[in-house]
Amino acid sequence: MSRVAMLGIQHLEQCLLIEARSDPHPWGRINWLRSLRDDHCLGYWDEGELLAISAYSLVLDEVSLLNIVVDTNSRGSGVGRHLLIEGLEWMQQFGGHRCLLEARVSNTVARALYRKLGFAEDGIRKKYYPLGDGFEDAVLMSADLPLL
Ligand SMILES: CC(C)(COP(=O)(O)OP(=O)(O)OC[C@H]1O[C@@H](n2cnc3c(N)ncnc32)[C@H](O)[C@@H]1OP(=O)(O)O)[C@@H](O)C(=O)NCCC(=O)NCCS
Repeated sequence: MSRVAMLGIQHLEQCLLIEARSDPHPWGRINWLRSLRDDHCLGYWDEGELLAISAYSLVLDEVSLLNIVVDTNSRGSGVGRHLLIEGLEWMQQFGGHRCLLEARVSNTVARALYRKLGFAEDGIRKKYYPLGDGFEDAVLMSADLPLL
């Protein structure tokens, strides 16, 4: 059985393990530590195993999706979609009415997921992400909550 529930500091090492093997651009210990302590972090478990992690912040009624990572072996089976939908429903309970996010221009899978959930691409933030010796642009996306 699967469930979505809050992540806490006690999940730090598991979050780092998942992103180390699943995210080409890992967030790292300091960011996860800060987010697990200060933001809203939710995980997706199946049969007791943590398969995906996500982090959200809230300023007034604006939710920012800070990060979402699905373990490599669990990709492509709807886990990311499920976690994001429940995560944003969760954030609505705290007053979120709109969600903003950024994705690497090259991250076509994430962009497809967000578009499928109703996010619009609003613009480009030039050279936002470090990439090798240089930088990569970010796509800015947004959607009203609840998602359609
Ligand atoms: C982006 C990510 C979270 C998607 O998670 P996932 O569980 O694999 O995605 P889902 O199975 O829920 O798929 C949802 C939608 O995403 C898109 N998608 C998923 N896998 C895809 C692929 N290999 N190619 C193209 N689109 C894909 C599709 O639109 C899909 O909808 P569909 O199944 O109706 O076609 C996952 O790939 C990931 O963790 N990537 C590394 C970390 C990352 O990039 N995070 C986002 C930071 S902005």
